Amino acid sequence: MRGKVIVLADGPAVLLRVPALLNGLRAAGLSVTVASSESANIFMPPLAYAALSGRASLSLSALSDEQLGEADLVMAVPASLQLLDLLSGEDWEGRLQALKRPLLIAPALLPTDMQPGFLDELAARLGSRFALVRPSAAAEPLGALGALCVASVEQCLEAALTALTPPDCRDMRLLITAGPTAEDADPARYVTNRSTGRMGVALALKAARRGAKVLLIHGPMTWPVPPHAGIECCAVRSAQQMYEAVMVRLSEHNAAILCAAVADYRPVAYSREKIKKGQESTFSLLLQRTPDILAAVGALPSRPFLVGFAAETNEVEANAREKLYRKGCDMLCANDISEAGSGFAVATNRVTVHFRDGGCQELPMQSKLDVADAILDLMLARWQSAR
Ligand code: C5P
Repeated sequence: MRGKVIVLADGPAVLLRVPALLNGLRAAGLSVTVASSESANIFMPPLAYAALSGRASLSLSALSDEQLGEADLVMAVPASLQLLDLLSGEDWEGRLQALKRPLLIAPALLPTDMQPGFLDELAARLGSRFALVRPSAAAEPLGALGALCVASVEQCLEAALTALTPPDCRDMRLLITAGPTAEDADPARYVTNRSTGRMGVALALKAARRGAKVLLIHGPMTWPVPPHAGIECCAVRSAQQMYEAVMVRLSEHNAAILCAAVADYRPVAYSREKIKKGQESTFSLLLQRTPDILAAVGALPSRPFLVGFAAETNEVEANAREKLYRKGCDMLCANDISEAGSGFAVATNRVTVHFRDGGCQELPMQSKLDVADAILDLMLARWQSAR
């Protein structure tokens, strides 16, 4: 991602967030400059901001309108109450009008300030020229200085990347299934598969950054979901629970990507007691089919725009097309999981997208985040023309 970001820094809270934030912004490809106050400079000297951002730091009091106007995003992270007063005061009124986007504010509050209604009042006082990243309720220790409540680095980074991403999916209310499901046999054992949930999380994250409101219904994943204000998570365990969660929430959505690696079979019976091993050298566990969520959604008389996935090891194209029609999808993303760098538990994927109205598009091997963007591009074009 390209763009110029100015980070306004004030007070001791710079120790809590600024280094990791600058690293994250730079890792995203952004060009970052810090404008620090005198009080911030006591805790971290300007040379530290320059070393971390790769650009000479500026003085907050000498920041010019021109410098602010050139920035694609200005963020005050973390913002002390003094900085909040400065930014919402008369001196900054005109400057805020000249910004390309609302100024992103992650306030650093004393635990005693975290009273019900305080943040709502703050948001109302700041108005639409600001975007508030709300602090977490848990206070974070700041050495001998006490403790502060402030949004996490991931939340601040997500808010920044989202502000800088064109919101072309803003009309989408997108339901995504992700991860494996786990089918319990007894209190200790279960049947599952090697899915980590990484592709589904990548889709949720990219769609949310592009403005979609996402519901991520996921099994027990080993891949974390970054905190994003546009993603609501619903954790389930079994295929049956995932089926029920999808059916309850489906009507709120106008698009769905079902990419969970749902277990095809579950133990016929659940044993409340741990199953004991016997003398025999073999053991059989009787399994029965789980509900096919994608096929059930595809068969509904009125359903959202529907995208399925198919992880295949052979006859990838033929299997994918057959699955696309049998399960009633609009689009189906097929990947060959026998190919190195494609499929479970790796950072990359190579996907071919098949369309219901014929044809397909091969995407190159790329990171799962880039695959997610490419799938959303293809989906958006068809979803918009189908509306
Ligand atoms: O039949 P297969 O498992 O290969 O189909 C894969 C697609 O179907 C994926 O989109 C997956 O999320 C979905 N699926 C499902 N419920 C199942 C099995 C698969 O939604 N029980």
